Amino acid sequence: MFFGKILGLFGKDMAMDLGTANTLIYIKGRGIVLNEPSVIAIQRDTGKTIAVGHKAKEYLGRTNPSILASRPLKDGVIADFDLTRLMIKEFISTVRSAAGLVKPRMLIGVPSGVTQVEKRAVIESAEQAGAREIYLIEEPMAAAIGAGLPIEQPRGSMIVDIGGGTTEVAVISMFSTAYSESVRVAGDEGNEAIMRYIQRKYQMQVGENTAENIKIGIGSAFPLDEPLSMEVSGKDLLNGIPRTITMTDEEVREAMAEPVSVIVESVRRAFEKTPPELAADVAEIGLTLAGGGALIRGLDRLINHEMGIKVVIAEDPLTSVVMGAGLALQNIRDYRRVFIN
Ligand SMILES: Nc1ncnc2c1ncn2[C@@H]1O[C@H](COP(=O)(O)OP(=O)(O)OP(=O)(O)O)[C@@H](O)[C@H]1O
Ligand SMILES: [Mg+2]
Repeated sequence: MFFGKILGLFGKDMAMDLGTANTLIYIKGRGIVLNEPSVIAIQRDTGKTIAVGHKAKEYLGRTNPSILASRPLKDGVIADFDLTRLMIKEFISTVRSAAGLVKPRMLIGVPSGVTQVEKRAVIESAEQAGAREIYLIEEPMAAAIGAGLPIEQPRGSMIVDIGGGTTEVAVISMFSTAYSESVRVAGDEGNEAIMRYIQRKYQMQVGENTAENIKIGIGSAFPLDEPLSMEVSGKDLLNGIPRTITMTDEEVREAMAEPVSVIVESVRRAFEKTPPELAADVAEIGLTLAGGGALIRGLDRLINHEMGIKVVIAEDPLTSVVMGAGLALQNIRDYRRVFIN
């Protein structure tokens, strides 16, 4: 009882997926306690935080000049150190009551290709946000664990984690990464491609959130069985007047074709560079898609169509990384070897 109280004062172990698009926090013994867009809004003159997460995302492209709404991570890494630190601090304080009073130990996912400088930026921002000990785990490793792949076995498992900023492809066997590649093309590029397409074809401007809604609403990588369409509102490029157009799934597929092909090519390269035995294992059980990009309609069919490989979508692709990191924390004895530091 006494000890229980004392232990309660210490921070609980915490896993964080600090993603370009979304930040998730998992607390040991509790599960996922936070799942919010990686967005922060501050008052420009005072630097005071106004909002983070969902609320701040609504501000994107909608604020007056005195407010800065920003996504401080780009391409999978920290682009704005100060804003990232503020954002993490805010997220941690939101979950503080669940986490205990004192500084938590933290396991954070980082893209497989990060540089030392980028790693240091992640560690420092977590430290300044109040974490005590910080461990890092490669995101594809965490995603593979979270997706339930048998990474401890002497068989090859392939995970393709398509996030907002990066697509990471890795082949894992016996707790170690046999092959990995990180390309900085993922969901964000899809949104940007849609924005460019609408500008070119309709001379109309739409914001980032609208482009994302189009992608999620009717976007696809492979022809659909049932056609989809959607009304899209934006601003005429020439006279600035608001307009509405109707877009079809075919147009959005065409718009997204280039980033989608970059993702498919990165999977193809992974097969080329993976040792034959491991590649054969992957062919047998299929590759697994994780990350929000796994939800692009028909991406599994496209990869299967182009490469003849079976494709499985992780059960809850948006939470694979944080679930995997959380599981690694729960079973730290087994999984400590996959931490990097
Ligand atoms: N249903 C959907 N269809 C298509 N794309 C989706 C869907 N749901 C989410 N996404 C996209 O998934 C991306 C976010 O995925 P995720 O949360 O895995 O990224 P992240 O982990 O924050 O980014 P990264 O791993 O690159 O740092 C966004 O680009 C979002 O638009
Ligand atoms: Mg991610």
